[in-house]
Amino acid sequence: MVDHRRSAVRTAAVWAVVEAELGQLGGLGRVVDLGGGTGGFAVRLAGLGHQVTVVDPSPDALAALDRRAAESGLAGRMRGVQGDASDLVRLVGEQAVDLVLCHGVLEVVDDPADTLAATVRVLQRGGALSLLVAHRPAAVLARALAGRLDEARTLLREGARAVPRRFTEPEVRALLAGAGVADSPYLHGVRVFADLVPGVVVDSEPGAVELLHELELLASDRPELRTMASQLHVLARRR
Ligand SMILES: C[S@@+](CC[C@H](N)C(=O)[O-])C[C@H]1O[C@@H](n2cnc3c(N)ncnc32)[C@H](O)[C@@H]1O
Repeated sequence: MVDHRRSAVRTAAVWAVVEAELGQLGGLGRVVDLGGGTGGFAVRLAGLGHQVTVVDPSPDALAALDRRAAESGLAGRMRGVQGDASDLVRLVGEQAVDLVLCHGVLEVVDDPADTLAATVRVLQRGGALSLLVAHRPAAVLARALAGRLDEARTLLREGARAVPRRFTEPEVRALLAGAGVADSPYLHGVRVFADLVPGVVVDSEPGAVELLHELELLASDRPELRTMASQLHVLARRR
């Protein structure tokens, strides 16, 4: 499978939820993508007309983001701001945006609880947080299946202490409980099959990418399959 098609399958379930959320806004929104890197999501969101700010500490990622924005004619709707998660509120302001993406960031920041609190503070009331984190059970399973038993054991023993962190569902729920979001956020699994199906199988069967895409969407909502998901995605609203 060529890379961009594989990447589209991996993000399918997240994108479906984010797009539906923005659809509910009933207009164009202000979005912040914390740790948005080179702008994979930002380009798509700006392409829909939303105003997107990417906050990321990496100058290289932001330079790539600027190039992408210029090439896609979206420079007026996307901007990159260099900064760390701990600068987020100062850079963006309190209650300033409708949607915050925090994808793949709690894994690496100094303090995940502080970062989560900052993402909620920049949201206006009722605004939405899209949180995507690596899921530890799937990482343990993947190592065990690959015969890397020692690594699987280390991951299990170290739990959330090792960086980059990987989280369990109860750990994510505990972080959310202290973050100022409404109860019962929507939580679902991402990449339930995408990382397990061998690329060669998908490449050689006509229509397989589309099928895998559909499977990911179906599986993401099934609690019984969630243990296998490589990532957990949450959509939570600011109280
Ligand atoms: C795994 S990448 C995820 C990129 C993108 N959000 C995605 O989902 O594809 C992690 C990103 O977090 C950024 N990052 C690392 N440390 C950070 C920090 N302390 N505060 C904010 N972003 C950080 C990195 O520069 C990188 O762009």
